[in-house]
Amino acid sequence: MTLYDVPAPAKLNLFLHVVGRRADGYHLLQTVFRFIDLCDTLHFDLRSDGVISRATELAGVPEDQDLTLRAAHALQRATGVRQGVQIGLEKRIPQGGGLGGGSSDAASVLIALNKLWGTGLSRRELMALALPLGADVPVFVFGQSAFAQGVGEDLSAVTLPERAYLVAQPDASVPTPKIFSAPDLTRDSSYITIADFLASPTFCFGRNDLEPVVFRLYPEVLGASRWLAEQGILRGTPVRMSGSGACLFAEFSELSEAVLAEAEISAIMRGADKTFSQTHPRFRLVQACAGLA
Ligand code: C5P
Repeated sequence: MTLYDVPAPAKLNLFLHVVGRRADGYHLLQTVFRFIDLCDTLHFDLRSDGVISRATELAGVPEDQDLTLRAAHALQRATGVRQGVQIGLEKRIPQGGGLGGGSSDAASVLIALNKLWGTGLSRRELMALALPLGADVPVFVFGQSAFAQGVGEDLSAVTLPERAYLVAQPDASVPTPKIFSAPDLTRDSSYITIADFLASPTFCFGRNDLEPVVFRLYPEVLGASRWLAEQGILRGTPVRMSGSGACLFAEFSELSEAVLAEAEISAIMRGADKTFSQTHPRFRLVQACAGLA
C-alpha cells in the first residue's frame, strides 16, 4: 500500500464585487483569491481495480455530493484511466465557511491524481474539468493567488505583498445559494481593472458585496464582525467576510502581529465571566495564517 499525502490550502476573498448575473442565474464576480497556510490534507491510496472510494466519512456530506469523489470520477471519465483510488481527508478548513475548503480538496484531487495516474492533462484541461465541480474550484487548480472574473474561472495571477490574517468563524452556517438569490443583493458594482486593485493590493481595497445580505440574515455574523472590529487588538484594521461567509478575517502586515491578536482575543474570551457566551456573539478563532503567494 502506498499512501501519498497532499495539502489543500484555504482561500480568502480579499474583496468580492458582484457585477452582474448570467441568464443561468450564476453571478458575474470580480474578486481576488488569496491562498493562506490553513490546509486540509488528502491521502491517496491507489487501487488497481478502478474503484474510487473514500477512507473517511465527511460529516453531513453523502458520497454523491463529496467533491473529492466527484473530482476523481470526472478525471477518470475524461481520460478513461483504469486505475482507482481510496481518498482519505483530514479536515482543518471549516466546512461551509467561505474559505473554499471543499473546492480546494477537489482541485488537489485533480492535480494529484493527474500525476499519480499518469493521465497527463494540462493545467488548462484540469481547470476545464474543475469548473463544473464549482465556481471556486478552477482557482485552486490554477494554484496561485489570482484576480478572478466571470463566475470565477477567468483568472489572472497577481503578486501580493506578504501579509498575515486572523480568521474567525461565527456560529452560523450560511448556504451560498441563499445569499446569491437574495432580493436585496446588489449586482451592479462598477467594473474595476486589475491595475485598480494592484495600486493598493490589500484587503482595504473594495468590499464584499455579499456582506450586507449575510449580516441581515445572520445577526451572529454581524455581531462577531462588530465585536472583533471594536477590540483595540485589531488596531483599526477592518474586518471582512470571505466568500459567502460565515468566516471573517482581519489583515496584518506580520504573522507575529496576527498571532499576538489571536492570543489577546483568546485571553479576552477565556477571561471574561461565564456570561460571555450569552452577552457576546458566538464565534471561534480559527487561527492566525500567513498569506501564500
Ligand atoms: O459553483 P458553486 O457550487 O460553488 O456555487 C454554489 C451556488 O452559489 C450556486 O448554485 C449559485 O447559486 C451561487 N453562485 C452564483 N454565482 C457564482 C458562484 C456561485 O450565483 N459566481
